Amino acid sequence: MPYELLLLADPSMDMLHEYLNQSDVFTAKMNAMTVGVLVLYQLDAETLEIKNIAVSPEFQGQGIGRFLIENAISMATFEQFNTVCIRTANSSIGQLCLYQKMGFELSEIEKNFFTSAYPEPIYENGIQAKHRLVLQRRVGG
Ligand code: ACO
Repeated sequence: MPYELLLLADPSMDMLHEYLNQSDVFTAKMNAMTVGVLVLYQLDAETLEIKNIAVSPEFQGQGIGRFLIENAISMATFEQFNTVCIRTANSSIGQLCLYQKMGFELSEIEKNFFTSAYPEPIYENGIQAKHRLVLQRRVGG
C-alpha cells in the first residue's frame, strides 16, 4: 500500500485504516514506480466515493490526477453506478479547481468536520481547513 502517497491526501493513519480494507485501490505507475493513487469506496447502491487521491509532488501538474479520476469515472460507469462523489476541505483550493473542471458539483457542506475530526488544526493556502465540502458527478446514461 503506498502509504506515503495516501498520507498526502489524508494525514490520519486511523482514518486511512477505516476505509482502506473496504475499498479498491488504483495506482498510476511510471517505470514501475508508483506515482499516483486513488481509493474508490462503495458508499451505497448508486454511489462510489473517491476517498483518497494523491500524486507524488515531483509528478504533480502533469495530468496524472485527471487520469486517475477519469479512470474512476469509467469504472463507475462500467459498473452501472449513477454517481461519483468526492469530499475535500474548504481550504483545498487547487483540488476544488480540479474536481469542478472534471464536472463535479458542490452538493453539501459538512460544517466543522475537520475541526472536530482531527486533533491538530490543518492549514492550506493560509486558510484553516474547517468544513468538508461534498462534490458529486453523475455518471453513465
Ligand atoms: N490550482 C489550480 N488548478 C489545479 C491545481 C491547483 N493547485 N492542481 C491541479 N489543478 C488543475 C490543473 O490546472 C489541471 O487542469 P487542466 O487539465 O485543465 O490543465 C487539472 O487540475 C488536473 O491537474 P493534474 O495535473 O491532473 O493534477 P495532479 O496530477 O497534480 O493531481 C492532486 C492533483 C491529486 C490533487 C495532487 O495535487 C495531489 O496529490 N495533491 C496532494 C494530495 C491531495 O490534496 N489530495 C486530495 C485530497 S482530497 C481527497 O483525497 C478526496
